[in-house]
Amino acid sequence: MDKVQLRARGKQIMASLSKDEKGLIEQKLADQLLQSEIYKEADTIGITISQKNEWNTSPIIEKSWQLGKTAAVPKCDPGPRHLHFYQLDDFNQLETVFYGLQEPNPNLCEPKKKSAIDLIIVPGLLFDTRGYRIGYGGGYYDRFLSDYQGKTVALASNAQVVEALPHEAFDIPVDHLITEDGFVF
Ligand SMILES: Nc1ncnc2c1ncn2[C@@H]1O[C@H](COP(=O)(O)OP(=O)(O)O)[C@@H](O)[C@H]1O
Ligand SMILES: [Mg+2]
Repeated sequence: MDKVQLRARGKQIMASLSKDEKGLIEQKLADQLLQSEIYKEADTIGITISQKNEWNTSPIIEKSWQLGKTAAVPKCDPGPRHLHFYQLDDFNQLETVFYGLQEPNPNLCEPKKKSAIDLIIVPGLLFDTRGYRIGYGGGYYDRFLSDYQGKTVALASNAQVVEALPHEAFDIPVDHLITEDGFVF
């Protein structure tokens, strides 16, 4: 299967989950992350604001605030397809942009430099056992991670993990992959 077909399969996997199934898995994913050393060691966490069909990131953001960590959330620049992270201290600092996507309002948030982010939770639809991923097809994270020095981790259900995915020269694998059962690597 090529990336386009795999992307459709990944979306189908997420769409097929009942509300209860999704809630159970995302709670386990969050627990696995929050218990991990990579998370505990990180002061500033790069994390997306999830949409309905994605694993809910709000509990992770809230827990990070409680622990005194900094949450940095991305804003897309659709022209060059770049990501810019901003410090989020309150969900009221979000605004709704295209496709109902929630992003930090740059008038209300401080920008966060790439070098200040310790751990990025990289979103994706499918992952393989080497960390390669199928994202939404914009290449935003591949571009952002190309000169990122910190650590990366992805959260995915077992159903989203496959043996090997096609990847191109610009695809950046994640350092760690966590499923509901724990670390794959
Ligand atoms: N570092 C980069 N510099 C320039 N273009 C890039 C870079 N990384 C990815 N791209 C572009 O982004 C597009 C989408 O990448 P792809 O891996 O297919 O999507 P995704 O990673 O979102 O699943 C590619 O066609 C590629 O041309
Ligand atoms: Mg890619």
